[in-house]
Amino acid sequence: MKRAWFIGAGPGDPELLTLRGRRLLEGCGTVFVPPPYETLFAGFLQGKRLLIPFSFRFDELLAEIESALESADVGFLIPGDLTFYSPFQALIDRLGERAEVVPGVGTANAASAFLRKTFDLPGVCNRAIIASPRTLGDGEMEVSLEQLAAPGVTLLIYMNNLPLPELVSQLRQGYGSNVPIALLHRLCLPGQHVVQGRLDDIVARVGDRDLFNLNTEEKRPALTLVVVGETIAASVDGSWWDYRHDHIWKDFYAADQPD
Ligand SMILES: C[S@@+](CC[C@H](N)C(=O)[O-])C[C@H]1O[C@@H](n2cnc3c(N)ncnc32)[C@H](O)[C@@H]1O
Repeated sequence: MKRAWFIGAGPGDPELLTLRGRRLLEGCGTVFVPPPYETLFAGFLQGKRLLIPFSFRFDELLAEIESALESADVGFLIPGDLTFYSPFQALIDRLGERAEVVPGVGTANAASAFLRKTFDLPGVCNRAIIASPRTLGDGEMEVSLEQLAAPGVTLLIYMNNLPLPELVSQLRQGYGSNVPIALLHRLCLPGQHVVQGRLDDIVARVGDRDLFNLNTEEKRPALTLVVVGETIAASVDGSWWDYRHDHIWKDFYAADQPD
């Protein structure tokens, strides 16, 4: 049976495509690829039929996939991967066992690597929350960003559509203090640009740069991830490591070292 592979392509750097994703892509005759991935991944897409998935209505897209599956495997290059804010679920459900999902490097992973920070730092942050103001809803019963933002939380905000001063004001209310914030624009892509600061100075640091596509005709969300929380600026010493070593690890990892 031919398969439709929904391949996590990572944030944009072809080096972050997994080995498995690359191998499976080689066997695909048709690849559905959202811009700008057809350019970024051109080296892996030579000789393949390339289509933009978002140019089709759902049933047309399904028909294209069905027809392409008659001759070879089909690939989808998914920005990041399927884990968060990916529009491909209905296709996967409809294709049933012909659809396979391949994990990739999500933007959250790339942000953690860029900032060189874990998002749940013991003693600093005890939970990470992923949210987008586009999907939270604004009904009375809905949870707001302000409610999600709280001491101890690392907040990852995708597809922000709030003007930065408004976003910051909601976060300031929620956190109740001047916590660090990073705006990571086009991570791992040409034009990567990151602005870091704290809630009280980030608006001034960004100035008139439109990192969220709010002043353009373009309706697509900008490729900007917002990360907020104390972990961004925290540094820790080795005491947590030694606690784990003395209470847990040393009994399991005795002196034998691999060759
Ligand atoms: C539709 S979501 C796709 C998320 C994707 N499934 C993932 O796993 O990262 C698009 C949003 O992800 C974030 N994003 C995706 N790629 C990015 C990049 N290279 N740099 C910064 N943010 C990115 C932005 O918040 C953007 O608005």
